Amino acid sequence: MAFVNLQNLAYKYPLTKTNALENINLQVREGEFVAVIGPNGAGKSTLCYALAGFVPHFFKGEISGEIEVDGRKSGESTLDEWVLNVGLAFQNPFNQISGAKYTVFEEIAFGLENIGVPRDEMKTRVEEAMSLTGISDLADRSPYSLSGGQQQRVALTSILVMRPRLLVLDEPTSQMDPIGTREVFGVVRRMAEEGMTVVMVEHKMEWIAHFADRVIALKEGQIFLEGTPGDVLTSDVLIENGFGISRYTSVAREAKKQGLWKKEKLPVTLDEAVEGFK
Ligand SMILES: Nc1ncnc2c1ncn2[C@@H]1O[C@H](COP(=O)(O)OP(=O)(O)OP(=O)(O)O)[C@@H](O)[C@H]1O
Ligand SMILES: [Mg+2]
Repeated sequence: MAFVNLQNLAYKYPLTKTNALENINLQVREGEFVAVIGPNGAGKSTLCYALAGFVPHFFKGEISGEIEVDGRKSGESTLDEWVLNVGLAFQNPFNQISGAKYTVFEEIAFGLENIGVPRDEMKTRVEEAMSLTGISDLADRSPYSLSGGQQQRVALTSILVMRPRLLVLDEPTSQMDPIGTREVFGVVRRMAEEGMTVVMVEHKMEWIAHFADRVIALKEGQIFLEGTPGDVLTSDVLIENGFGISRYTSVAREAKKQGLWKKEKLPVTLDEAVEGFK
């Protein structure tokens, strides 16, 4: 059975007229890395909240259908139980900072402290997690003194240190430079190889194509397209429906109109473009 199973999920925020999610059917296998794309307001963050239990346990409103992770139903668990299995990095990393801690080290240790992990083990786990995400040198800094990209790394680390079975990331590289972005995708891929299931909202098509197993395209709260990165990210209907596409896809698409792109498939990454233009 699928590790994540969303069945006929629909959800409407309080005091709104239209569903933020509608008719969502999604199965994700254990260790799979799924990327979610979509224009503004498509419901990407809401989908993250649903996976992470915030919908319906924190955001009220109207919900129907099933949210199941590892055979357990969200509706039958408390948020405290749910978050032990599912970690969410919020779209705005600032929202992740507890406000209770003075250093990055303590900030990352906070979740472990809350579940009573012994001091020694806590220290080891925090150090390991910080080394994994490349922020060991930020240990003594104040969480508030960091750049947006650094805050995003701290947010990711504070989730990873909890070792969730399902990792949900909402645009975790939005404030990062290309090097940071690549590193984060690499870390996430590695976690998936080790068996963590990942759902990651992202706009960076080239990196999705490099690292993700599958892409879900959301539009107006519904799954609009899904498939392999190579298929979904080069689909003509993406452009026609307000999704961004990779610059390499865009260039090759124009070249194809003029007979300059000979391959059947359009590229997403630089490597694929170079290969195709040879
Ligand atoms: N707390 C809320 N209360 C009411 N409506 C909300 C709330 N949060 C989001 N919405 C609405 O739900 C819909 C989906 O929003 P959501 O934030 O999930 O989209 P998104 O795809 O993450 O967009 P973005 O690319 O801007 O992050 C939008 O119409 C939005 O206005
Ligand atoms: Mg969002």
